[in-house]
Amino acid sequence: MDLLKQMQKEYAGIKARPSKTQVDSSLCKGRAAHEKIVSVDIETMTTEQTLIVIKPDGFKRLLTGKILARFEEKGLQLRNLKSYDFTKEKAQEFYSVHKGKPFFDELLSFIMSGTVVACILEGSHAVNTVRLMIGSTKSFEAAPGTIRGDFGLGFTDNIIHASDSPESFIKESRVIFG
Ligand code: CMP
Repeated sequence: MDLLKQMQKEYAGIKARPSKTQVDSSLCKGRAAHEKIVSVDIETMTTEQTLIVIKPDGFKRLLTGKILARFEEKGLQLRNLKSYDFTKEKAQEFYSVHKGKPFFDELLSFIMSGTVVACILEGSHAVNTVRLMIGSTKSFEAAPGTIRGDFGLGFTDNIIHASDSPESFIKESRVIFG
């Protein structure tokens, strides 16, 4: 059953309670069922999708399985998964928000330096949940228990990227998944 139907069914069961549901159908246009971007806010429940990219350092160090397992153990679903090699054009598009910053060229070189693994994750409050799980951008400052805190010490080479908002998720996932 696609996610939208599943959420509608669940919502139908509790609609006697005052609540709020939003499904932004404009974000679903032209997408396969498993790719549909759904934001449902029923009081305490918000199902979202987000994107993670295991960077070349994480992939080379064979951390992909361990990292994905953490998200599954947390209860997030892996909706779409692929290994990917950034071209310069795609890297510039992916990181366009950082264009003009002093670290931009280094960032592009690093993300193009090897294969990455991209994954769309889905679950309650996925954007924020995943950002908390990956930890601070500077791995050497990231809290133990987070992915960066447990697996790395780098800044540019900080193991993993995750979308910082639903809008970034849409933009970034389109760069990689089309
Ligand atoms: P990421 O989550 O992929 O988002 C942008 C990346 O830029 C960030 O992780 C870091 O790897 C990298 N980066 C390098 N230098 C800086 C900096 N001075 N400020 C922010 N991000 C930086």
